Amino acid sequence: MKDDNKPADSAGKMEKLTSLAKRRGFIFQSSEEYGGAAAAYDYGPLGVSLKNAIKDAWQKEMKQLHDNIVGLDAAILMNPKVWEASGHVQNFTDPLVECKECHKRFRADHILEMSPAQPKSEKSKLQEAKNQKCPECNGELTEPRQFNLMFKTQLGSTEETARDLYLRPETAQGIYVDFKRVRESMRLKIPFGIAQVGKAFRNEISPGDFTYRTVEFEQMEMQWFCHPDEASKWFGYWKTERMEWYIKLGIKKENLRFHEHGKDELAHYAKKAVDIEYKFPFGWREIEGIHNRGDWDLSRHTQFSGQNFRYSDDKYKEPFFPYIIETSGGADRVALVFLADAFTEVETRSGDEDAKHEKEIVLKLPYALAPIKIAILPLAKKEPLQKLAHEIETLLRNHYVTQYDETGSIGKRYRRQDEIGTPFCITVDFDSLEDKQVTIRDRDSMQQDRITIKDLENYFLSRLSS
Ligand code: GAP
Repeated sequence: MKDDNKPADSAGKMEKLTSLAKRRGFIFQSSEEYGGAAAAYDYGPLGVSLKNAIKDAWQKEMKQLHDNIVGLDAAILMNPKVWEASGHVQNFTDPLVECKECHKRFRADHILEMSPAQPKSEKSKLQEAKNQKCPECNGELTEPRQFNLMFKTQLGSTEETARDLYLRPETAQGIYVDFKRVRESMRLKIPFGIAQVGKAFRNEISPGDFTYRTVEFEQMEMQWFCHPDEASKWFGYWKTERMEWYIKLGIKKENLRFHEHGKDELAHYAKKAVDIEYKFPFGWREIEGIHNRGDWDLSRHTQFSGQNFRYSDDKYKEPFFPYIIETSGGADRVALVFLADAFTEVETRSGDEDAKHEKEIVLKLPYALAPIKIAILPLAKKEPLQKLAHEIETLLRNHYVTQYDETGSIGKRYRRQDEIGTPFCITVDFDSLEDKQVTIRDRDSMQQDRITIKDLENYFLSRLSS
């Protein structure tokens, strides 16, 4: 993970974003009433809609819009031998240093990123790390040691018979272990893919930057099995496809870039890797990795399980290990990307007296991801307006997620909807009772259209599908 061009988050954007996420029910700290759980977060009503919309879009992209990709939902707990075979028991480590004074722990590579003199190689990096001072109390640091990121748990009803298990640190291994069964049951021939969304867990040494690095998170991973001679071609294909997906879904192009891994950055399983990075308020950071894992996983599972994970079909003379091209993104990081990309501050525009001279927040989420698509607002809490507004909601809620809101001034209600990214607000006023028309306010352009109620379904059909 590289972190150059770190911008000073001058306008305190992350602080404002975190506060908005909490205030408006997107994301908040887990078990906050008990002082919180380090680096674990809950998704509130709007956050869960946003994250689900991202996962649904990814599942559709992978399984519906590509040939030959099928789904899977493998268990989180696996036989512990899986993690020996995968190399995670031995290699899934980060270098840790501890402060001799305050006993805080840090990742050695993160400590070095804060230092102006950047050592050239991984080895010299680790030596250099212990010469730095603790960023919290300026105390001396210990020698770096390798710390395994997997969480251990126990299976069994008594301590004597209990057996150590790991919470999976990546969803990928479930796919590799089920590779043969999925292939046979679906009669798949290479090249083909298996796609999965699911939880993963890592005992991160330095979690942080809100939901960017947490200990419990969701991955969206697709494993593409292909002939070794075609691995390089498919790596290029998936690199382009994945970048285009983010742009198609609505992330600003200028906030995305590739980062090719150097030899000393590669994970133990990777022959080649490229990250898709996003320009967060706290710097350019990885949101997805595209990896050529070669035959590492299938050959290791053959060796450790005694089962044969080779592939054969009529086209090839000899059985062989397919190469795996992996696309591995994080649903939580992508949700954070969309919140950060959409977060916009504007001069007061809601026209409400108490909102004047303040900055207002507009969450310019892509329509497809906005948790509420249409808000229905009767201008006054008067029975005929309320009744008509409810009738309009009944008309639209079959097709769209709607929200009826009659509390507070109309300016405040617009402002609330802007903060949660609702693309359209319908205002039902006294004229509506006579002319059967309502006013539709567009979140981004602030344009107001007067539309006949019976034309609303067609209006939104064209506006919300664009
Ligand atoms: N199977 C390969 C793999 O797990 P990775 O680069 O370690 O590769 C892939 O992780 C993606 O998973 C990352 O790009 C990120 O989106 C997400 N991810 C990894 N660790 C995370 C963490 N601690 N918190 C949130 N997301 C994380």
